[in-house]
Amino acid sequence: MALTASLQNVARPGVIELAFGEPDPALFPAAGLAAACRAALADGGREALPYGASAGPAALRRRLAERLSGLETRATGQDETLISAGNSQALDQIVALFCRPGDVVLVERPTYSLALGILGDHPVAVEALACDKDGLDVDALERRLVEARATGRTVRLLYTIPTFHNPTGTCLSAGRRRRLVEVAAAYGLLVVEDDVYRELWYGAPAPPSLWSLAAPGTVLRLGSFAKTLAPGLRVGWVNAAPGQLERIATSGLNDSGGCPSQFAAVVVERFLAAGHYDSHVARLRTAYAARRDVLAAALATRLPPGCEFVLPAGGFFVWVSLPAGLRAGELLPAAEAAGVSFVPAARSHLDGHDGGLRLAFTLYEAEQLAAAAARLGETIDAALRT
Ligand SMILES: Cc1ncc(COP(=O)(O)O)c(C=O)c1O
Repeated sequence: MALTASLQNVARPGVIELAFGEPDPALFPAAGLAAACRAALADGGREALPYGASAGPAALRRRLAERLSGLETRATGQDETLISAGNSQALDQIVALFCRPGDVVLVERPTYSLALGILGDHPVAVEALACDKDGLDVDALERRLVEARATGRTVRLLYTIPTFHNPTGTCLSAGRRRRLVEVAAAYGLLVVEDDVYRELWYGAPAPPSLWSLAAPGTVLRLGSFAKTLAPGLRVGWVNAAPGQLERIATSGLNDSGGCPSQFAAVVVERFLAAGHYDSHVARLRTAYAARRDVLAAALATRLPPGCEFVLPAGGFFVWVSLPAGLRAGELLPAAEAAGVSFVPAARSHLDGHDGGLRLAFTLYEAEQLAAAAARLGETIDAALRT
């Protein structure tokens, strides 16, 4: 841990860091946020600078509820919306509040690597469920729940990223979405739906969220402005039944500190009020779709036979499956020496499986993405020849 560092990720000279799952700083709406900061402080900071209400600023909760209701057929209420400090903080808090020591928490195989770290901070047993090109295997989930019932184990929660998955880019199919929420309701399983990429679709809009399909109380949906505005703001939200949000709002943490991101939340509210969010997100979609296409085209020509990937319909990532026998972690030093980084599969798997790698296409322009694909292709080719 670098206690002297100012940023989480700093690119190394000569390395195209496709390991970094980050938005491009060149696309941050800095001018709009500067205006929003001025607006937030215009009244002397009377709303932005004190401790905030523990569920977050009412005006932001109202705006968000309206916006989310416009994205999907299910209306989302202000009383079903609580402001968080981003999905990482919300997941951490939900596990702390809704799980007991020894409970089983299910994740996808693979899952968001850093979520494994968050879950690892809690005394729960984390277990993975199989996934394929249509996302989580819901039959496998049901079998696991039946088994758990028979053996008296408590499977409390499923953490899932059904839409533009990190790291695989897949989307859970429509049929599986419906069945997942039914199975969860039948077994009293809480589903934590990480929906951080919903608005970053590059063809058709994202499929309906689990939140929109589920009976009340089954799904807690996590949303964040980290990918569409800026991760440094630390503003996100939780959609859940009012009683579940009450549990978060009355937690020791929120009781002591109020809204975990009050100043930034008020800034985001002023940004939304200024009316530029839609056009900003549309601009991101155009920029990132073009980058996805450039990377995919370059991978298609540069990767050796035996590598496979699927074009993601949204989000930040292309997932490459490696030819049998290659391990991503073992390729990484050579790839970095050649000037490209990635996240090896093993970080997203509890069982150490390392037959794939994650590439983020959002941070770099076309020329660098094409160069990164060429470097990666040469590295894999060289490994196949040794
Ligand atoms: C699936 C997923 N969840 C959560 C996060 C982090 O979200 P936040 O910045 O809101 O904590 C990321 C960022 O990479 C992500 O990919």
